[in-house]
Amino acid sequence: VYGAVSATGVHRRATQSRRAFDHARSVLTRGVASSARLRQHSDAVVLRDGDGASVFDLDDNRYVDYALALGPVILGHRPPTVLQAVRSALDHGIAYGAPHKAEAELCEAVVRAVPCAEKVALSTTGSEAVALALRIARAGTGRRRIVKFDGHYHGWLDPVFVNTPTLLPLERSPAHAVHSVHGLPADDSITVVRWGELPELERALTDGPPVAAVIMEPLPCNFGVVQPPPGYLEAVRDLCRRNGSLLVFDEVLTGFRVALGGAQELLGVQPDLTVCSKALASGFPLALVAGTDGAMAPAIDGPVQPFGTFSGFPASVAAALATLRELERRRDEIYPRLERLGANLAAGICAAALEASAPLTVNQIGSVLQLFWGAPDPVTSYADACRSDRERIAALAGRLLDHGVHTPERGLMLVCDAHTSADVDAAAEAFTAILAEPAAGTDHTPETKGAEA
Ligand SMILES: Cc1ncc(COP(=O)(O)O)c(C=O)c1O
Repeated sequence: VYGAVSATGVHRRATQSRRAFDHARSVLTRGVASSARLRQHSDAVVLRDGDGASVFDLDDNRYVDYALALGPVILGHRPPTVLQAVRSALDHGIAYGAPHKAEAELCEAVVRAVPCAEKVALSTTGSEAVALALRIARAGTGRRRIVKFDGHYHGWLDPVFVNTPTLLPLERSPAHAVHSVHGLPADDSITVVRWGELPELERALTDGPPVAAVIMEPLPCNFGVVQPPPGYLEAVRDLCRRNGSLLVFDEVLTGFRVALGGAQELLGVQPDLTVCSKALASGFPLALVAGTDGAMAPAIDGPVQPFGTFSGFPASVAAALATLRELERRRDEIYPRLERLGANLAAGICAAALEASAPLTVNQIGSVLQLFWGAPDPVTSYADACRSDRERIAALAGRLLDHGVHTPERGLMLVCDAHTSADVDAAAEAFTAILAEPAAGTDHTPETKGAEA
């Protein structure tokens, strides 16, 4: 049950969330621990609980959750098997700063699941693991230059935090040249090219200093949810081999989510190195770099020594082992189910858009969806994605909250094993109701928000 009903439909209660957020802003930068959680187009929502496919805020509003911690929640919030494994790990100890048995068991499960994985290095966050993968690639090749793709996100650390979809401010223009991010100058060891344009990559690999690694999201999920053009990944694989550069797949979001073995299993192309995190540990902080024995050699008996006080954190490793065991045991059921739920959600949203003649479109691969407003349909490139009206999508996320649907403002939606067909139908109904409103998606600007309060 939500708060007041106004001319534009239901509005949720937000008194406690607003109070807590105002307090947070007085002590925490921008009031959020990660800028990915900023809301510029709706009232604050400060969460208190998660359970299955639902989250609850301080004002007792319940939302069906399609944000899923931006990727980690794959089995649902607080899955019993994972909680039990974590509790049991905690009963023994919190951290050791010494090896513990479950680390190797986890790495064994990763080697079984991830096609390119012969050796595994453990880390804590996706950004750190990307940094480690690039260090391994540079040490192994004796080269410094890295090629990345326009709009692909590899975490917030240098040198790859360039030409990445930023949230502050909401930007719409594509830029193919390396540019600075948030006022910091770009590192000259990085070259940015457009994904899907083979000749551009070929030029980047052959002109200029030799390239240590080409890093990409094999299924980009941070600017859209986009399939590679037919044959493209195979051609990139071949180009890298011929140029002595390592191919790195950043599967921080897609790993264990689009298939047990990630996008490399789904698409049938193997990188030299891969980075996984998020769904790996059901929400506990854990990331890894995996690769062939050859590609991982600098970290096995070479100069690269991964460090990290929290690397292999026992509770995270226990969570990951329990998650992988469940995903492995139920893989033939769970991934088709996630695909079905994702496809039905996309179809429901598209039907609502069609009924309202709204230019809302969806790209969907398995359990990952991205909404666009006024962009080419389907979106096949970063340039296409940049034509989406991000403010309209952010405003829509605000209205969805009012209808009990929790999504991030960037229009990413994820489904998990705890979602039901009824959840998907309810989300589609929320889109139908919102898009039927006059000036749909624009009524929740920060200016009008104050008046509602
Ligand atoms: C593809 C990709 N790489 C790297 C990262 C960075 O991971 P983390 O936020 O754990 O540092 C993310 C996070 O969203 C991601 O989606």
